[in-house]
Amino acid sequence: MSSSPGRVYLFDLVASLAKAVDLVNPRIAEHHTRVAYIAYQLACESNLPYSAQYQLALAGALHDIGCFSMQERLDVLEFEDVRPYQHAIVGARLLETFEPFRGIAHLVRYHHMPWADGKGTRWNGEVVPDEAHLLHLADRIAVLVQRDDLMLSQVAAIRTAVDEQSGRLFNPEHVEVFHRLAMKEYFWLDLSSHSVDGILRRKLRRESIELDQRGLVDFSRLVCRLIDFKSEFTATHSSGVAAVAVCLAELIGFSEEERETMRVAAYLHDLGKLAVPSEIIEKPARLNEEERNIMLSHAYFTYQVLEEVEGFEIIADWGALHQERLDGSGYPFHRTAKELSLGARIMAVADVFTALTENRPYRRGLDHEKTLGILRRQGEAGELDTTVIRLVEAHYDEIDGARALAQRDAILEYRSFVDGLDAVG
Ligand SMILES: [Fe+2]
Ligand SMILES: [Fe+2]
Ligand SMILES: [Fe+2]
Repeated sequence: MSSSPGRVYLFDLVASLAKAVDLVNPRIAEHHTRVAYIAYQLACESNLPYSAQYQLALAGALHDIGCFSMQERLDVLEFEDVRPYQHAIVGARLLETFEPFRGIAHLVRYHHMPWADGKGTRWNGEVVPDEAHLLHLADRIAVLVQRDDLMLSQVAAIRTAVDEQSGRLFNPEHVEVFHRLAMKEYFWLDLSSHSVDGILRRKLRRESIELDQRGLVDFSRLVCRLIDFKSEFTATHSSGVAAVAVCLAELIGFSEEERETMRVAAYLHDLGKLAVPSEIIEKPARLNEEERNIMLSHAYFTYQVLEEVEGFEIIADWGALHQERLDGSGYPFHRTAKELSLGARIMAVADVFTALTENRPYRRGLDHEKTLGILRRQGEAGELDTTVIRLVEAHYDEIDGARALAQRDAILEYRSFVDGLDAVG
């Protein structure tokens, strides 16, 4: 089997990412998917060109990715937002780092901009794109939908609520478009159905751009930042794991293509942590049982999300099984040696190695001797692959050097990211 993921559609990846981000709380479940669907339908109803429909669906699927904590996520569900701009700016700054997202970064930046009788067409001398206002409307429609009530019985109330804000929050022309769409029952039934994600993926796949290996690495680096920047505690973790895993893969004789696949898998290995509230990741005290259980589920969520992406079988295998152990004592599948590929074994060692050697805000990384001692013990206990551990022993400085370098770069990026945010207040 080739290690190359083959044909991967950007929208498929984005839809999966949106799902992972929304796992953080049941109240938020499907928020991104729903906003993507509404924004896409509003764009179609407005007869916008296909490229704008596609951009609005992408922007909808990613618009709140700058909300890092669960509390922030819940706050923006209030119809009248308390402090909505910060997460929009954070999201835009993250998205800008990936070339195909430059256009949508601008929409995300302004997705809470009120229309203010037309004054909202500009902000600080910059033009606010009309699509950003459409995205704003889509987002607010999504939060007006009550999850437990019958969908079609809510339509009149939602239309009234939107009407009342015409001109103040929303562009009156967009409100008119919304009313045309709101007359069609299928729109509401799609929106509230469990298959809205599949409906949207099918609609967008025909035109979604395909990513080559370079694009895939760049996209997963963006996701890696999203996972790591969630907390200062983890700000460089996945970058470190990627450097170590790629180094080990090279030493073991993986081809260049396989090494790049390893890089993508490592960037994404903690994807499921997006579903863990940063309040838990950052908790200074011991986790209680419930918090521990939430933390443990991250590997499962990584698997669930990656497995769904067409062409990602190997990336799911190498990335999501990093908590499995050869003797069956790992989680969540309790696989044993014969069910764990070499790629997954490398990732497990790279993850442990990085966790031991990296600095955390509350402690410095362990030294050479202590790190090897722990790894050797886990090898002897039958948990981690001893061949991989012997490679770490033989090439310690090279591997640790690659990790330190990658994490130094990542921390610089993190600092400039955080400083940039302080500047906007
Ligand atoms: Fe938002
Ligand atoms: Fe939102
Ligand atoms: Fe990890």
